[in-house]
Amino acid sequence: MNDVPAIETIGLTKQYGSFTAISNVSLTVRKGEYMGLLGPNGAGKSTTLKVISGLIFPTSGSVKIEGIDIKDHRRAMAHVGCVIETPEPYPSWTPAEILEYVGRMYGLDSREIAIRSRDVLETMKMWDWRDKAIGGFSKGMRQRVVLAQALLPNPGIIILDEPTSGLDPRGMIEVRQALAALKAKDRSLLISTHMLKEVSELCGSVAMIRDGKVMASGKVDELVHGKGGSKKTILDIKSRRPFTAEVLTNLRGAAGVDAVTRTGECSVSVEFSGSTEQQEHIVDLVYDSGLGIVAVNEKGADLESLYMDMTRGDDVR
Ligand SMILES: Nc1ncnc2c1ncn2[C@@H]1O[C@H](COP(=O)(O)OP(=O)(O)OP(=O)(O)O)[C@@H](O)[C@H]1O
Ligand SMILES: [Mg+2]
Repeated sequence: MNDVPAIETIGLTKQYGSFTAISNVSLTVRKGEYMGLLGPNGAGKSTTLKVISGLIFPTSGSVKIEGIDIKDHRRAMAHVGCVIETPEPYPSWTPAEILEYVGRMYGLDSREIAIRSRDVLETMKMWDWRDKAIGGFSKGMRQRVVLAQALLPNPGIIILDEPTSGLDPRGMIEVRQALAALKAKDRSLLISTHMLKEVSELCGSVAMIRDGKVMASGKVDELVHGKGGSKKTILDIKSRRPFTAEVLTNLRGAAGVDAVTRTGECSVSVEFSGSTEQQEHIVDLVYDSGLGIVAVNEKGADLESLYMDMTRGDDVR
């Protein structure tokens, strides 16, 4: 039974009246896998996470957590710690009191609550603040208390909706490090975020959604470099004189070239997945046309270029 996915959704659709917020979303998060959910504002990330956590019902489709249908909410969610639009606790409460309350909800006894509270508050660097009212905390500190709540029951599966939004850079790094440290304990994570860096640093796989539909999902490496593993490279070429239509056409037609984007009058970005000889030919081609090469920069294709591809032409809904 060990290959039962941590999270599996099949054909999730959620409509609000006649508006379809998500459509036919099928995702699989395997045990021990960290998956990032990326997409522009209004793409349907929060809606997907809410349906997965059983906070709202899908119009159609199904969700299984560790093989248990989310309709059996209590049993399925026993494995899950999640933070999705959690209501703010009372400002007069302290982190220790909030965790005590959450611990009781999960049926933990006082001793377990004390041990787990210390563990999660230390992980989130909030131990020294445990007896202070959260009303006086910064947004980042409150967010860390909220994350501590999600981690309190020591869940195998963690679902987080933009956990680092509103945190300062140090707060972001600390939360990311805390999440990375949980990997060693074989947890699974589904996290929505607008931070591509968060996905590339933390997640082995990614799902990109746009207009409520999954545009791509799978291992980050395979999506970025293609399944065959032929490494994509991006050549940024800067010239002294403007690129002519003829040179652009020749570049587009050159062997190994996947796409050519003009990034300025005197600069182009060439997406390339050919051999070293073919790469040499591209540089020669520009050189021979007499534009005067000022610089050639080579960089690997990354999540950023994949994201830009997947969300091209998309506007905020
Ligand atoms: N309760 C609701 N009633 C009607 N429409 C809704 C409701 N909740 C969400 N929507 C709509 O569904 C779409 C998807 O919203 P969702 O919050 O899932 O997007 P998101 O990807 O989380 O965006 P963001 O990055 O801004 O958080 C949006 O167009 C939103 O306006
Ligand atoms: Mg959202």
